[in-house]
Amino acid sequence: MLCLGIESSCDETGLALVDDGKVLDSVLSSQIDIHGLFGGVVPELASREHYRYIGRLFDELFARNSADIEDVDVIAATRGPGLLGSILVGIAFAKGLALSLGKKFLGIDHLHAHLLAVGLERAIVFPCLGLLISGGHTNLYRIESPCEFTCLGQTLDDAAGEIFDKVATALGFPYPGGKKIDDLAKNSKLDSSSLPRPYLKSGNLDFSFSGLKTAAINFIAKNGICQQDASCDCGNRLERFCADFNHAVADTLCAKVAEAFSKHPDLKCLVVAGGVAANDLIKAKMTELVHASGREILIPSKALCTDNALMIAHAAWLLAREGFFHHLDIEAIPRGRKIPDDLCHCQMEI
Ligand code: KG4
Ligand code: ZN
Repeated sequence: MLCLGIESSCDETGLALVDDGKVLDSVLSSQIDIHGLFGGVVPELASREHYRYIGRLFDELFARNSADIEDVDVIAATRGPGLLGSILVGIAFAKGLALSLGKKFLGIDHLHAHLLAVGLERAIVFPCLGLLISGGHTNLYRIESPCEFTCLGQTLDDAAGEIFDKVATALGFPYPGGKKIDDLAKNSKLDSSSLPRPYLKSGNLDFSFSGLKTAAINFIAKNGICQQDASCDCGNRLERFCADFNHAVADTLCAKVAEAFSKHPDLKCLVVAGGVAANDLIKAKMTELVHASGREILIPSKALCTDNALMIAHAAWLLAREGFFHHLDIEAIPRGRKIPDDLCHCQMEI
């Protein structure tokens, strides 16, 4: 079954082909340089860029490999959560193709797709725990199957990637600065941190990162730490601070994962996804924790961690092979609104 996936929920426009769970091809265009000028994603600019690139990316994808659009069985696009104007560009493009070519259509939950993406590289054993850590979300899920997700906890304020980026901005680094903090932290031998690990005694699996963000930004201001420290001889203060902050975020995420496993001991493995899953310290600490509990940890390769269309095509294949599809009148869902449970079921003759 050949699935075309389209991603346009934030600042990456992507199209990809997945054939029976195997990667065929993908194209991706990033807007990071444009939004970097403004210190964050500008929604109106994002939708305009998706609109500018989606057609030419489609042509590029089908020009460079043997698949023809007529061979595609399912056409899928991210339906949310994300920036409404951006999602509308991808979903309208997908609906137009499906309608004109008489193909099956699916609107994909972007967050579920992130967590299922590692299935393109390794087999996921269900039921499993899913931790999604990105610029917009910090969510924990109980995942029964590719079609059955229960949200166990989420951030009440800032997302993990968001505090990396805000702290990086306070240090004077360009947006998004999460990777910069991770890279600088590697130069320090610091193995613990004096910053708070917030909201660990809440008794639930939600997160709250705003206290850590404020503590880190106050520390930067009080101690006059800035990116210039990297080029002068100030006793590695910048690297030390970055390591300190990295440890605080990693420990907070690990504590909630440990609590989730103790509340749900039947979960067989941990899947970590989203841009922050590329953080080396988080990966190392999470791997140690999960292995100590006798379980496996699955983290996709970097290209599958961040926004991409392969994960959309893959999630579409997992749903379509179970006979699920959507009618063409489904809505795009912006960030903050729950994605409705409106999948239809049929026996597909594919
Ligand atoms: O999933 P993603 O590509 O986009 C969405 O937010 O949907 O995640 C981007 C986020 C940004 O906040 C970025 O700073 C963060 O992931 N990030 C990192 C690292 N690489 C990317 N944060 C910490 N350490 C990293 N190595
Ligand atoms: Zn994403």
